[in-house]
Amino acid sequence: MVSSVPVITVDGPAASGKGTLAEGLAQALGFHLLDSGVFYRMLGWKALQCGIALDDESALAEQAVTLMPEFHGCQIWLDGQDIAQVIRHQEIGTAASKIAALPQVRASLLRLQRQARRAPGLVADGRDMGTVVFPDALCKFFLTASGAIRAERRHKQLIEKGLASNITTLLQEISERDARDESRVTAPLKPAVNAVTIDTTSLDADQVLTLALQHCRRLGLS
Ligand code: DC
Repeated sequence: MVSSVPVITVDGPAASGKGTLAEGLAQALGFHLLDSGVFYRMLGWKALQCGIALDDESALAEQAVTLMPEFHGCQIWLDGQDIAQVIRHQEIGTAASKIAALPQVRASLLRLQRQARRAPGLVADGRDMGTVVFPDALCKFFLTASGAIRAERRHKQLIEKGLASNITTLLQEISERDARDESRVTAPLKPAVNAVTIDTTSLDADQVLTLALQHCRRLGLS
């Protein structure tokens, strides 16, 4: 691990505002950005493409170590295709959450995630960034928000991307996903002991970013 490169972690449940905050922090500080959910989504997509069962731990872990994604701006190339849009579909999110419960899969994806730690710094968003992937991160955030507001936000995001969405199914899917992510034995979704928790239910994106940047500055990051 390259411990001299500062890392800021942003963990939390689906649609709690992690992605937006991580992007805002990376932009404000000129840091690289890691959306770790993309790796679980890529593997979920690959499993569905290749007909690998979502509980076949060793086959999935084998696929995980050979993943060779290429990131070009908003595009994510894997196996000769840009899969950036397709991995945002709800069924891929559900597949990602199921395979994310498998310890060998999580271990196999560690290297790819840690490779993103490059100067001048990294903002990493996910579920276990502060607890497992970058436990030595300089600054850790944990975002929360009510289930209803998260379903509403995810609904808006999907509609804006031109993807089909139903708010009732979304709310159910989000609570099932939370339960799975929180109850798994390996790297469950939980705040790191030294994380700052921000409840984003009644805050807009700018307010969350302002609070987070104030905390970063207190830690000497600016
Ligand atoms: O953040 P997201 O919705 O793109 O993540 C999709 C799934 O991947 C999520 O339900 C749980 C899993 N995941 C994980 O277990 N650990 C991470 N660091 C990121 C995502």
